[in-house]
Amino acid sequence: MNDDSVYKVLILGDSSVGKTCFLLKYTDRVFNEVYMSTIGLDYRLKTLTLKNGKKVKLQIWDTAGQDRFRTITKNYYKGAQGIILIYDVTNTETYDNVENWISQIKEEASPNVVIYLVGNKVDMEDKRKVSTEEGQKIADANNLPFIETSAKSDININETFDNLVEKIDSVFSNLEKKNSVAISGNKLNKENNKKKCC
Ligand code: GTP
Repeated sequence: MNDDSVYKVLILGDSSVGKTCFLLKYTDRVFNEVYMSTIGLDYRLKTLTLKNGKKVKLQIWDTAGQDRFRTITKNYYKGAQGIILIYDVTNTETYDNVENWISQIKEEASPNVVIYLVGNKVDMEDKRKVSTEEGQKIADANNLPFIETSAKSDININETFDNLVEKIDSVFSNLEKKNSVAISGNKLNKENNKKKCC
């Protein structure tokens, strides 16, 4: 990819873990206390500059966590280069479901997709049910990077996107290079064959 790389990122996780708040804190710098469940999907665009100076555009999709929307949201996994998988550190059930989400991602998404595991709502330390160690454990078991965040207190939101996008760019720009080498190699072979035959 060149200077105009566009990467698609999907935010997944159980209902009410804070996916919409996470996205809106990043793109619009706002936080909404009132819960309004997402219907289907919605997206926001954001441009950011990588450490090497390259500009990339992000298309970030906020998905509905409710089961009844699962068939619709699953259709969007394929084209994603990155996935932010969120659980709520104050809700054990959302943590217990992380493995199910990972299985679903493995079934539906591209094998090269970069997944980031996020434990959100760390501002509610007194209500915490899932420890940092438990989060790290499930991340290590699945070979995923892990971070704890708060959309409300703006903890590690930018960092999550910055780290994710650096990783996506290193994976996908390398793949692009490999593909273009393979394509130009094929072209060369064809031209050589032409020369040989005529
Ligand atoms: P669905 O659309 O149903 O999938 O939910 P969602 O994951 O998008 O959750 P949403 O962002 O709508 O947030 C659900 C509730 O959690 C709202 O009441 C938010 O205000 C609250 N919330 C989200 N993030 C945080 C956070 O970091 N800290 C605290 N204390 N509350 C949060």
